[in-house]
Formats: sequence, structure tokens, C-alpha cells
Amino acid sequence: MADVNKLQIDDEIMLLVKGLSYKYPDGTRALSDINLEIRRGEFIGLLGANGSGKTTLLRAMDGLMKGFEGEIYLKGRDIRTLKPKEIYRHVGLVFQNPDDQLFAPTLFEDVAFGPLNMGIDTKEVEKRVMEALKEVELTGLEKKSVHNLSFGQRKRACIAGLLAMGHEMLLLDEPTAGLDPMGEYKMMRLLQRLNKEGGVTIVMATHSVDLVPLFLDRLYILSRGRITRGGTPEEVFNAPQEMEDIKLRLPQIAELIYRLKHDDDLPFERIPLTIGEARREIVKSLNILTGRR
Ligand SMILES: Nc1ncnc2c1ncn2[C@@H]1O[C@H](COP(=O)(O)OP(=O)(O)O)[C@@H](O)[C@H]1O
Ligand SMILES: [Mg+2]
Repeated sequence: MADVNKLQIDDEIMLLVKGLSYKYPDGTRALSDINLEIRRGEFIGLLGANGSGKTTLLRAMDGLMKGFEGEIYLKGRDIRTLKPKEIYRHVGLVFQNPDDQLFAPTLFEDVAFGPLNMGIDTKEVEKRVMEALKEVELTGLEKKSVHNLSFGQRKRACIAGLLAMGHEMLLLDEPTAGLDPMGEYKMMRLLQRLNKEGGVTIVMATHSVDLVPLFLDRLYILSRGRITRGGTPEEVFNAPQEMEDIKLRLPQIAELIYRLKHDDDLPFERIPLTIGEARREIVKSLNILTGRR
């Protein structure tokens, strides 16, 4: 029988947000007329300064906010008509602070909590927990108390908990915040592997512009609760002035080349976003300057 609550949309669209606005009970308008779509298999970023609405938007997309205006469809179904159980079969939110998420005495018990709660039998849960811990490189720490894990390990433990539930889509709130540069890079590599090899659709909130061009397929810029730009990293970062207006800078490498081009009149045709592209552009520009071509 046809489901009357199911919007007939492209099956590849995991989440569709239409005209979403939200005001907190104290009157703070956190989101205004948000429109976006997340397709299966994408790795999407929500980039915005503090207070721009990233957490509120992620919580809404996880079905945790009530009383919003507009519509949110999870795989074609109005999220307001879905029971928590139906939402959590497909999508899970990783909180910014792992200590808000972890609570069981040991790592194993924490990761097992979600799938056990879904009614999955213990043998299968055990298998899933061990697989999820392997995915996030925490194998061998099963019996450890979550309090004794490092901050980065606790962040990965949260991801394992959702993977063990079998989510097709993960929403992550600033997954790299609080990590050192190497930890940041490793977290992004982990997410990239889950996305490219595991087929998990990923939406992550961040204010770290330097990581974005290396890993994300597409991003949306949030400013004061509105989406001001959306597109590939190249499309989004070609407007430095606009980035400044919304309190974000360009990726450092792009900033350097942009200044060399505009302040020092060096002949750059385009603004690169990664070290590799920058290297090629610099060599090209030096060849032009020295007449070598
Ligand atoms: N529980 C709350 N009650 C009232 N206002 C809130 C609450 N949580 C967040 N806000 C406000 O909503 C806006 C967006 O916040 P948030 O979604 O947390 O942004 P971000 O995650 O980008 O830092 C901010 O102005 C913030 O002060
Ligand atoms: Mg936030």
C-alpha cells in the first residue's frame, strides 16, 4: 500500500530540508528558511562561525527539535511523523562533546547499548561491536572504562556506537574540535574511509576551513541561521570578501595565494585550495615571471 506520508522524491535523497526556521523558546531565532538536500553517499560540510546555527540544524535533522517551521524529510518521509526508533534506524547524531554521549561503564557496553536497545540479539550485537571498534581503531580497549580513554578515543567511541546500530547516515557536530592537528587529520581520514568504503552518508558541522577542501564533496555556509552559499569547495571559496563578512577566513593556502595575487600582483590564474594545487600554480607563475613558460 502506498504510504501517504511518503513524499515522492528521488530515492537517492536521504534528507531534504525545505524552508526550515526555528526559534528557541527564549525568542532566539536560530534558523531561518534553510533549504538543502543530502544525497546518498555524499560527504557534506556545514561550515559556519560559532552561533551560526550548526548544532541546531543537525539536531533538527536528527529529529530532536520540535516546533520548527518548514519541512524535513528523511528518505522521503516527514520526520515529524516518524517515531524515534524509525529515525535511529537510518540516521545518528554524534555530539560535539563525547562526554554528553558516553555513559556506560566500559567501552564495550557503551557501543553495545544502541544495538541492544534496537532488539538485536546478543551474538549479533557482539559481532557488530567488535566490527565497529575495529573501524574506529579501538580494538583491544573493550573492557576499558570510557573515563580512562583519551578525548580523541572517546570521540571515536561515539562514532563506533552509531556504526554498531548500522546507520546509513551520520551527522557529526564538530568531530575535529578539541583534537590536535594530527588527531584532526586522522579523524577526517576515518570519516573519509567510512564514507568512501563503508558507503556511509556523512554530514559534519565544522568551522575548520583548512580541512574542508581536502575531504568534502560539497558544503553549505551557515551565517546567522541562514545558508548563504552552497556548492563544491572551489565554488564556495572563490569569494574571499564574503567569507570575511561571515567571520570565516579562506583555507590558509588559498589566503596566501590570494594575497600574492592581489597585494603583490603575482600572476596567478586561480586560487588553489590544497598544497598540491598551490605547488602547481606557484611553478606556473614563476615560469611566467622568469619568461620560461
Ligand atoms: N537552548 C538554547 N536556547 C536559546 N538559544 C539557543 C539555545 N541553543 C542555541 N541557542 C542560540 O541559537 C543560535 C545558534 O546556536 P547553535 O546552533 O548552537 O550554533 P553553532 O552550533 O553554529 O555554534 C545562537 O544564537 C545560540 O545562542
Ligand atoms: Mg555548535
